[in-house]
Amino acid sequence: MELKKIRNDFPILKRKINGKRMVYLDSAATSQKPKQVIKEIEKYYENYNSNVHRGIYKIAAEATEEYEEARKKIAKFINAKSEKEIIFVRGATEAINLVRFAWAEKLRPEDEIISTVMEHHSNIVPWLMLKKKGIDLKFVEINDDGTLRMEEFKKLITPKTKLIAVSHVSNVLGTINPVKQIAKLAHENGARILFDSAQSVPHMPVDVQELDCDFMAFSGHKMFGPTGIGVLYVKEEVYREMEPFMGGGEMIKEVFLTNATWKDPPHKYEAGTPDISGAIALGYAVDYLEKIGMKKMKEHEKTLTRYALEKLSKVPGIKIYGPKNAENRGGVIAFNLGDIHAHDLATILDEQGVAIRSGHHCTMPLHSKLGVSATARASFSIYNTKEDVDELVNALNKARKVFGI
Ligand SMILES: Cc1ncc(COP(=O)(O)O)c(C=O)c1O
Repeated sequence: MELKKIRNDFPILKRKINGKRMVYLDSAATSQKPKQVIKEIEKYYENYNSNVHRGIYKIAAEATEEYEEARKKIAKFINAKSEKEIIFVRGATEAINLVRFAWAEKLRPEDEIISTVMEHHSNIVPWLMLKKKGIDLKFVEINDDGTLRMEEFKKLITPKTKLIAVSHVSNVLGTINPVKQIAKLAHENGARILFDSAQSVPHMPVDVQELDCDFMAFSGHKMFGPTGIGVLYVKEEVYREMEPFMGGGEMIKEVFLTNATWKDPPHKYEAGTPDISGAIALGYAVDYLEKIGMKKMKEHEKTLTRYALEKLSKVPGIKIYGPKNAENRGGVIAFNLGDIHAHDLATILDEQGVAIRSGHHCTMPLHSKLGVSATARASFSIYNTKEDVDELVNALNKARKVFGI
């Protein structure tokens, strides 16, 4: 009953595709949005659209208040010590690039960064770009079951290691990495730790103090918020090691023709007019997630993942990637069916109203480790049901018939 009520909050789920109920199984790419969030965007533009931190008139004050309130909500949501630790960015990609330019720019040629082979491109490419400065990059490999080879962290880490950048949950394998353990290892060796939490913050309770991370990146659009807004969490003490990312309005205290001084963080890292309605809407998305409860989100997705792993594993010809056990993974399942190309599979499923993702999911190095160029991927959120999984399995069985598998 409650699930029905939740589904009703997401207007798009009423859509029909080819005359069939749309089964949306691509929340890892972007989540759908509840009407409570959509309404707040409309409310902003209809009632108090104005720039923040500038005007002193009524609606400008309202916009500033709502924008800063959203920052407070997000800080509380991830248990940051203070809202000063929350920088608004466009998404996880920009958050990681902010760390690359504002923190890692000062690294020296002999320094090293450790990441893993399971990362999204947004947690590989910014570090690859540092190679031209002579920074050495090392990647931890994975076991056959899609878990990280933890012993490799210990082997690879040296006094030259300045940063470990690792995903909290893999967007392909679904693996939940032992990030607390990795953070401890980083700190014991004098390195900073960055978590790409694009696939964890929307789906499970995340506590930055408990995990003891220095940087955490995530995207609003994967957690019921709009596109174009995301967050970089920075542990307050780490701000001392950072320089501004972009220069311009909003981030300055004073400007002279010879020099300029900066505002205190987080504003120092938010140059120009921000995505005001996006940040405010993200604050309301956080309210929505908290109303459901992150433990409940996690449990629901785990139940669905367990059910899906069981049902999918019975489909003849299927190969599922990542941990076999639902306990060790988030609600993301990548697979291949026989030798059908993932794009062909996704096209056939689409004809039946089932929306899944296909391709390399921005993880080309991981796919080459898996020995394939593409996979199909189903991913879940709170609004998905066991019937959705059944529809997926039915659609896959139809695809088998089409391709004679
Ligand atoms: C693990 C992970 N990291 C980073 C990103 C990049 O997020 P965005 O495109 O919102 O910046 C994604 C998006 O799919 C992701 O799954």
